[in-house]
Amino acid sequence: MPRLPLLALLCAPLLCVAHGQAPAAPPTPRKTVYHQDVLAKVFREDGVWNYTTMLLREDLGLLMLGAREAIYALNISDISDRKSAVYWRVPVDKQRECTYKGKSADIECRNYVRTLHKINSTSMYVCGTNAFSPTCDYLIFADGQLKLGEVHEEGKGKCPFDPLQRYASLMVGNDLYSATAINFLGSEPVLLRSSQSTLRTEFKSSWLNEPNFVYMDLVPESEHSPDGDDDKVYLFFSENAVEYDFYSKLMVSRVARVCKEDMGGQRTLQRKWTSFLKARLDCSVPQPSLPYIVQDIFLLAGDSWEFGVFYGVFIPQSESSDLSAVCAYSITDIRNVFSAGKYKTPVSVETSHIKWVMFSGDVPSPRPGACINDAARSQGMTRSLDLPDKTLQFIRDRPLMDDAVRPLTGAPLLLQRGPAFTRIVVDNVPTLDGHMHPVMFIGTENGFVQKAVNYEGEMHIIEEVQPLDTPQAIKTLRLSLSTGQLYVGTESGAAQMPLSDCGRYASCLDCVLARDPYCAWSLTTSLCVTLPRSPHTADGSLLQSLREGDASSCPEPAPVTAEVVQVSPGSTVRLACQVDSNLAQVSWLFNQQLLKTSAPKHYLYPQGLLIFATSASDLGEYTCLATEHSGAHAYPRVMAAYKLLPVLPVSPGTGQEGEEETDKEAGITEPPVSQVTAPKRGTTTGGKDDTTPEQPQPNAGARQITGLQVAVASLALILIAVLGVGLFLGRARIRSRFRSAPSSARNGTAYQPAPQGKPNNHRTDQNSNNSTTAVTFSGKGVSNGPSVAITSIGEESEI
Ligand SMILES: *[C@@H]1O[C@H](CO)[C@@H](O)[C@H](O)[C@H]1NC(C)=O
Ligand SMILES: *[C@@H]1O[C@H](CO)[C@@H](O)[C@H](O)[C@H]1NC(C)=O
Ligand SMILES: *[C@@H]1O[C@H](CO)[C@@H](O)[C@H](O)[C@H]1NC(C)=O
Repeated sequence: MPRLPLLALLCAPLLCVAHGQAPAAPPTPRKTVYHQDVLAKVFREDGVWNYTTMLLREDLGLLMLGAREAIYALNISDISDRKSAVYWRVPVDKQRECTYKGKSADIECRNYVRTLHKINSTSMYVCGTNAFSPTCDYLIFADGQLKLGEVHEEGKGKCPFDPLQRYASLMVGNDLYSATAINFLGSEPVLLRSSQSTLRTEFKSSWLNEPNFVYMDLVPESEHSPDGDDDKVYLFFSENAVEYDFYSKLMVSRVARVCKEDMGGQRTLQRKWTSFLKARLDCSVPQPSLPYIVQDIFLLAGDSWEFGVFYGVFIPQSESSDLSAVCAYSITDIRNVFSAGKYKTPVSVETSHIKWVMFSGDVPSPRPGACINDAARSQGMTRSLDLPDKTLQFIRDRPLMDDAVRPLTGAPLLLQRGPAFTRIVVDNVPTLDGHMHPVMFIGTENGFVQKAVNYEGEMHIIEEVQPLDTPQAIKTLRLSLSTGQLYVGTESGAAQMPLSDCGRYASCLDCVLARDPYCAWSLTTSLCVTLPRSPHTADGSLLQSLREGDASSCPEPAPVTAEVVQVSPGSTVRLACQVDSNLAQVSWLFNQQLLKTSAPKHYLYPQGLLIFATSASDLGEYTCLATEHSGAHAYPRVMAAYKLLPVLPVSPGTGQEGEEETDKEAGITEPPVSQVTAPKRGTTTGGKDDTTPEQPQPNAGARQITGLQVAVASLALILIAVLGVGLFLGRARIRSRFRSAPSSARNGTAYQPAPQGKPNNHRTDQNSNNSTTAVTFSGKGVSNGPSVAITSIGEESEI
């Protein structure tokens, strides 16, 4: 067969799906919340690393946390409250043995806790890599203390040898299901059930081909099953595809499943799964690309198992893209592929070459890979041991389905550029309209958790939150509904944070435009409140508009009082304006007219406006507007207002020279907060207030511009100009730091760049209109250009 270029070939077998609708632009998180503003609790202990294995014990009020050579019992309400710990170190001889085999003493030849499952009210089962010699033990929590059972069971196949390798495991009753490599080299992957009748997969590349195991879960499909079906364990992983024909290895995502009551075959498939079936899992992004690779899965349970949905995060397998995606799959769709789909079969073409094609011959009965059901029972087969060789031989050689599993809506629920997605959990939240809405919490490579929703095809990221102060990849996410907390594990520490922090939304517009299903604006208390987790009844006193983002019912905000700023001719004035939404476009009004900023007079930066060389024509009222577009509406919010007045001549000695002096040095006059005259209304039209008696009268002398000051000011101007050019021409990295100004409403602090690491590199094409048009600085990442109609702002805003 002639080998075509990789992409051309890929697009042939339906891997590259073109979607009817125009691909949506990756959304920008509406808010960026840095660690210092998160209601987070952190746990870490000196000298201990790799806090990545978690088990919620809501029954005991504990979070069990497995790290490197340590296991902790933490208070589930406050994980910084450590209840007990056990240390599980590698014996010296084991470590020496491991280093002799060429592994690093400090990293690989240690004991990483990797498997942690509940057995009963007091006991857990725990495994560790134990210097490439996996070992398992019982972990008992009694009398407030943790201790190890010291039974040292063989952990081969239950836990990886290599701490850097992904694995998946699950406890069902007393049976441990594990997916990992069973040998030192990591070359023999298995899906293993350790129980009375231990079962595993075949060592064949058609079963598992250099897999990366990701997730496993049980679906109780025997519940009210009309055909007497069995419960199933689903396994998600990625592996090298056998079914495509390329020069290089091609990875694909997979879902596989086995039946809980499987006991293996009698002659064929002895002590092997008779029900191992797998299918490709597709998450097709709008652009043609190699298949995306699954990183994590979360099962969002429904009222009964049929309504369950698996949510997965996917990243590209080539370095060429920085898109991550979330796709969701219904259990019934996956089940249909396995129970009714066609199989693939290997055929020899030419001499030694194997090609996988759809099997079109007769499929034996009972259906290969099916669980024992009523139909099989009626033929006298009550256990997998009774299955005929024909069925077993078929499935031994053909575990791969021809059909792929497609996502629920045919397309990703979320696409995002920037640091890769790593983990996901999903909460189904009751909303004010009486529905339930899934909210996705997605961990990223740089230590942020994105809280995202999909409203009828519209992707919306409510916020990105940094639970720990380190930019490390999020390796574990757990959700507890009983505490309303999210638990986050990274290599350097663990953290918990609330699922929502509605108090962060400072105004009605902020609260409603957030479109956060956990929150609603209370008209009676004028606060953004957390909704109770019960089904809601219509209540006129609460505002929420999730799908539409319609905030037109919000009451008019109280007018913002203008701060008086006194300027002397020729000085530079800085007018601060902190905007708390990354989606807002910032504009300034000057005497109720849209300010046409122009260099070198004005400089707009993310936290405000600089006016250089002020003269009489610059005096007047300045208003900073943050305008968010939602649905068909634009919602301008007044973020700050200033009134620039001339410095009045005064008698010597009444000025506040000290303060002025420091400002002078930078050539910048700060709005003198301590000297602000507070006019009664923000709507005064200039002139009238100029002679208010309590007006401060700074020493005019202090305002005189000296030659030195002019020089300093010019220097500053040049510096800012250079900075400006760098800013606008520079690449997304710089801009994305500015994009992330924290909320002023909450903390009132000045902008600081991301402490370490940055949130996402969002789209970067917003700089097309930075010097001439009226709306000059378009927020952060919002790229619609000058879409704020000048008149509409003038009309809609109340200044
Ligand atoms: C454990 O954490 C350390 C420190 O972050 C990291 O360098 C190392 O790679 C981690 N080890 C494993 C096996 O993940
Ligand atoms: C866990 O923490 C909460 C909140 O700090 C506290 O009220 C509770 O008593 C703690 N539980 C235990 C078992 O210490
Ligand atoms: C819990 O399981 C352990 C280990 O199987 C067993 O020894 C213990 O008796 C069980 N305890 C309870 C309360 O069932």
